[in-house]
Amino acid sequence: MEQNKPNGAECSVGSAPRHIAFIMDGNGRWAKKRGMPREYGHVQGAKVFRRIIEYCGDIGIEIVTVYALSTENYAKRPKKEIDTILTLFEEYLTDAERDAPSRDLRVCFIGDRSIFAPDIRERMAALERATMSRKKRLNVAINYGGRTELVAAFNKLIASGKTNVTEADIEAALYTAGCPDPDIIVRTGAEMRLSNFLLWQSAYSELYFTDTLWPDFTESEVDKIIADFKGRKRRYGAAE
Ligand code: IPE
Ligand code: IPE
Ligand code: MG
Repeated sequence: MEQNKPNGAECSVGSAPRHIAFIMDGNGRWAKKRGMPREYGHVQGAKVFRRIIEYCGDIGIEIVTVYALSTENYAKRPKKEIDTILTLFEEYLTDAERDAPSRDLRVCFIGDRSIFAPDIRERMAALERATMSRKKRLNVAINYGGRTELVAAFNKLIASGKTNVTEADIEAALYTAGCPDPDIIVRTGAEMRLSNFLLWQSAYSELYFTDTLWPDFTESEVDKIIADFKGRKRRYGAAE
């Protein structure tokens, strides 16, 4: 049943994940514990995001995806909090533009970009174009929702005239077209759910939940997660 194996998933027991996805949760609680506004947690979380993606690159992880803002966060949280997150995102965009020439990193953005002003959208697309031939890859999920992504994909396929679609057609119409599925999805912050993250792509991803709040997340916990992943047996529905 080779066709049921998600794209790119070629890891067997003992090998490191090729693609790690992080649901970076717990920023608000981290700040609250310190008597600080939620925004302070996002500022700290953005620093940890930079450190962790750097570290994943250093240890040879080929693809990292991070969930930075969901469509539901955007719709439901106070404007002040969303403005802080979008400002932190723009700061990252500026840093990534500065670092692009000297860094072996392809940066991709996944999500509904209609919330951004045209100049920001253009900068996102330009960075994607400038880095597209790099080997390592970072996907930043910003105003991302798995259901929104699927609806957009189906509408794209309908608009192209298709009346019957295959798994390959759907994959090619997702924001993540061409990117292997995550081998493991890590969620910090103690909640055990996906919260609309990578619904199609997570079909056979390993899941790892940790109580650590994202701003407390460390490189050594990444090592621990990779060691745990290496001990897992992925069967994709096959018998032992
Ligand atoms: C994750 O942290 C970041 C975003 C959702 C943008 P939260 O802001 O959800 O933090 P908690 O879960 O309330 O602690
Ligand atoms: C998921 O966290 C989204 C991100 C980490 C960006 P949430 O905090 O929004 O998830 P719920 O609301 O607890 O499910
Ligand atoms: Mg949360």
